[in-house]
Amino acid sequence: MPELLIRAMQPADLPAVFALQCRAHPADYHEPVDALASRLEVGSEYCFVAERDALAGYVFAHPWAGKPPVLHAPIKPCASPHHVFLHDLAVCPTCRGVSASRRLFDAVRLHAIQHGFDTMQLVAVGSAQTFWQGLGFDVVPDQRLHASYGDAVLMQRTRVAQDASRAAQSNPCNV
Ligand SMILES: CC(C)(COP(=O)(O)OP(=O)(O)OC[C@H]1O[C@@H](n2cnc3c(N)ncnc32)[C@H](O)[C@@H]1OP(=O)(O)O)[C@@H](O)C(=O)NCCC(=O)NCCS
Repeated sequence: MPELLIRAMQPADLPAVFALQCRAHPADYHEPVDALASRLEVGSEYCFVAERDALAGYVFAHPWAGKPPVLHAPIKPCASPHHVFLHDLAVCPTCRGVSASRRLFDAVRLHAIQHGFDTMQLVAVGSAQTFWQGLGFDVVPDQRLHASYGDAVLMQRTRVAQDASRAAQSNPCNV
């Protein structure tokens, strides 16, 4: 089986990324391509794809401050970012169970560490809360999220550098 490659996401990846988002998430969470493109533009150093022949997975993340951005709408750069906001991560159904999501997450985490961020946040929808807890996130209680997120919770991970040596050893960016 070909090796899984993790590399920086490019604008040319967006059509395949959007197609995978449509496979991986319910319709309420399919986003307009301009909303995805703005996240790649704002977080170009924090967005990655996994490839194995074709697109196997993706992650969008970007520097941010304050409440999570409204879903489905384009974002603008944040002047004084406080944390890295992980917007979305998905792995193709045929590539699951081989740590693709962990490697995509570690790529974001490594870049967050390199840029001096100690905190990551995300919004967990559906049953994803358990998955994110496995990657060190805790629910932030009593947070009111924008209605565009539906039934969801804000999650946060501090001390993102805690496993820095393990992340560095796994060399998530093999490009
Ligand atoms: C959730 C998802 C990204 C996992 O991808 P994956 O590549 O199969 O995950 P990995 O093989 O890297 O597993 C990483 C860890 O997460 C765990 N895990 C995987 N899917 C899980 C789930 N749905 N719930 C809880 N834990 C899960 C694995 O057991 C593994 O734990 P371990 O390292 O302790 O053994 C994938 O199932 C997916 O794309 N789902 C649809 C989109 C989605 O829900 N995205 C996340 C929220 S935005």
